[in-house]
Amino acid sequence: MRLIIAANWKMHKTAAATAAFCQALRRDEALFDGVDVLICPPFTSLPAAAAGLQGSAIKIGAQDMHWEKQGAFTGEIATSMLLEYGVSSVIIGHSERRHLMGETDQQVSLKVRAALASGLQPLLCLGETETEREQGKTVAVIERQLSYVFESLAAEDLSNLVVAYEPVWAIGTGKAASVDDAEDAAALIYRLAADRFGAESAKGLRVQYGGSVRVDNIGSYMALPSISGALVGGASLEAVSFSALIQAARKAILH
Ligand code: PGA
Repeated sequence: MRLIIAANWKMHKTAAATAAFCQALRRDEALFDGVDVLICPPFTSLPAAAAGLQGSAIKIGAQDMHWEKQGAFTGEIATSMLLEYGVSSVIIGHSERRHLMGETDQQVSLKVRAALASGLQPLLCLGETETEREQGKTVAVIERQLSYVFESLAAEDLSNLVVAYEPVWAIGTGKAASVDDAEDAAALIYRLAADRFGAESAKGLRVQYGGSVRVDNIGSYMALPSISGALVGGASLEAVSFSALIQAARKAILH
């Protein structure tokens, strides 16, 4: 399955910094062959990303969206506004939105459905907190978060859906999940998709791992049977190191 490596910049990089990053990353583009590379800048930097990546195979993602097409939703952004800047994917349900902004499973589900309906590829983030893990609730949390989203999907949607397994305790902490835990979670995601939509449709789904991914550990995740990509925060902010990370991921599946 084709790898998808996405840079989640969170609240980092102005338009000027985005332009400089794009220029630098493009120099290495020939080395990314076979990998879907995606950068997800803040909304205000999307035009700079669109200009900086014109003619490039590197794609653009947004970090969030609203499920309504337009209306009185101060501070929100609609899919049409993202599509205008060549955005092809959107991060939905990131743990920082769920836990810091109080986003609910229902809202996440509405967003995923609206993204797919508008032709955007959702990068649906899910995963357990440290407390939930300690209480042995990891499987139950993944099942719950996924079932809300599956509720509103059809089998054919899976081929345009990416699920990022991101244990909350691993995000930005330097404490990445073990490869066994990452594989278990990703295999569970496939199993739940197959139970609901059938094995054939589940094969269209791609699962990323996210949480303290670095150049020295990405290879071990990419080599796992159920993982075909990564959602990268901190290690995606410098073009040189993000490029090295993509190359390391590619190498891991070539050997
Ligand atoms: P991190 O963030 O790579 O800095 O841990 C990952 C994410 O939040 O998607």
